[in-house]
Amino acid sequence: MRFMMITAMGTALVLAAGPTWADAAAGKTAFAAKKCTECHYTDGPAKEKTIDDQLAKKGPELWYAGSKFQKKWLGAWLADPKPIRPLKYGTLNKKNPGDHPKLAGTEAANMTDFLMSLTSDAVKAGMVKVKKNIKGKQIFIKKMPCSGCHQSPGRKGKITGGFSGPSLVGAGKRLNPDWIYAYLKTPSVFKPVKAMPTFAGILKDKDMKNVAAHVAKMK
Ligand code: HEC
Ligand code: HEC
Repeated sequence: MRFMMITAMGTALVLAAGPTWADAAAGKTAFAAKKCTECHYTDGPAKEKTIDDQLAKKGPELWYAGSKFQKKWLGAWLADPKPIRPLKYGTLNKKNPGDHPKLAGTEAANMTDFLMSLTSDAVKAGMVKVKKNIKGKQIFIKKMPCSGCHQSPGRKGKITGGFSGPSLVGAGKRLNPDWIYAYLKTPSVFKPVKAMPTFAGILKDKDMKNVAAHVAKMK
């Protein structure tokens, strides 16, 4: 009897404090309620067919978010978003205003579970071995124009590189290495209207893995 009372009290306390575990279904409901849908779509495959479709977008597509991002990073970013793209989304001459909506703790956790449930079959696990990759580094800074468009940590932590693509500073915590490779290998699955040149057919498969490993080590 005493045991039952304690259990009942425990349950009541948990209910009063609200769920402490994340809930993907609640995240999905909140995604619509918080108007995230005004700028992001979450049902794949890719919808963009023309340049106009791409330019009409107010934010990046999220239908493969669970394959693209690392869960820990995503939860932290939703609660405290910091600019990823140096430039305002969809522009080439305006600074990113850094005004992304912020979520409170439980909401961020629920939204993270919802977004991590959205995956793409084109991303296969275990394709990229994440370790220091000199070949990948040479490709990134010398052989290919990657650094002309992407910021990355250079010597002594100094950030170098162009602004037209998303910054890859911190990519090692943000992106799934296997997604980076899949994106280089089959860009049309993720970005049918391209803002980045296609390297499939230019880089050998092995070198796509090398450069993906290099990006995946970026701090
Ligand atoms: C007014 C438009 C707008 C709304 C509303 C909005 N976002 Fe965003 N979102 C953006 C833009 C623009 C970016 C790119 C930010 C950057 O690069 O710094 C972005 C980036 C993201 C990213 C990272 C995607 C990537 O590929 O880099 C996630 C995850 C995200 N938003 C989730 C959400 C969630 C969850 C909500 C609802 C709480 C939301 N967004 C509401 C415009 C919006
Ligand atoms: C001409 C400029 C340009 C070059 C060169 C370029 N990129 Fe990109 N890259 C972009 C743009 C723009 C995007 C964003 C595409 C989009 O969201 O539609 C992007 C996206 C990415 C992303 C995803 C980042 C994110 O957070 O969404 C990775 C990773 C990446 N590029 C790696 C590379 C690598 C590796 C190379 C060299 C082999 C390279 N890029 C060369 C412009 C470029």
